[in-house]
Amino acid sequence: GKRVTAPAIQARKQDGKVDEPIVMLTAYTMRMAQLLDAHCDMILVGDSLGQVIYGLDSTIPVSLDMMCNHGAAVVRGSWHAMIIVDMPFGSYEQSPAQAFESASRIMKETGCAAVKLEGGEAMAETIAFLTSRGIPVMGHVGLTPQAVNMLGGYRARGRDDSEEAKILADAKAVCDAGAFSLVAEGVMEPIADKLAAQCPVPVIGIGASKNCDGQVLVTEDMLGLFERTARFVKVYHNLAEQISSAVETYAGEVKDRSFPTSDQTYRPKK
Ligand code: KIV
Ligand code: NA
Repeated sequence: GKRVTAPAIQARKQDGKVDEPIVMLTAYTMRMAQLLDAHCDMILVGDSLGQVIYGLDSTIPVSLDMMCNHGAAVVRGSWHAMIIVDMPFGSYEQSPAQAFESASRIMKETGCAAVKLEGGEAMAETIAFLTSRGIPVMGHVGLTPQAVNMLGGYRARGRDDSEEAKILADAKAVCDAGAFSLVAEGVMEPIADKLAAQCPVPVIGIGASKNCDGQVLVTEDMLGLFERTARFVKVYHNLAEQISSAVETYAGEVKDRSFPTSDQTYRPKK
């Protein structure tokens, strides 16, 4: 089969609404991508890998090397979903030319179909530069984790009229610049509803609203594998509990020599 494409995602929204909500999750590894692929329209290689797999405090230290390595693994583990790779902090903000250099490297080294970058009005020129040169861009507005030092934390956005006006203006700028879709993260529900109604391209919510054109979650969050979860996460399964219990059983069997048994050992025939 053929992979989902950026134009196909964009075309899912006609006359202000999607045919069916768009399904998106994150993956950082080949095996996770294999497990998600059949169920997802889009898989995001998020810079959330900084916290989730590297144990960092924020996404600020995430490097282009990390995004390229994990992006390539996820592309190798998938065949149907469209793969989007996050541009890490410091790799695109300086100029459209810097962004093109970083994005083209990500696309060459991973084989992904699009990149995602954070920001609104300030990034409009960059988004237009990339999209007019062959690189589909997904926007990201509202709670933008790479701006944590400006925002002063990870609280939901849009708590007053000026924050609301800024989010709506950011989303409009991203759409006008040519993004094929955008993520709305951590925004008050009424604002998310306005975003979904206002934007001509699909708005993918996370901590936003059920009325968004699609939803995304960090896979480790929804599987109960990451301890620091936000209010907007629904834990669908507690994999951490299952892993702990399997490891506890293994440790006990090693200590009492009940593992390995003849099933797991090689013995000469005679
Ligand atoms: O990095 C990430 O996982 C993301 C999603 C939460 C949208 O940007
Ligand atoms: Na991200």
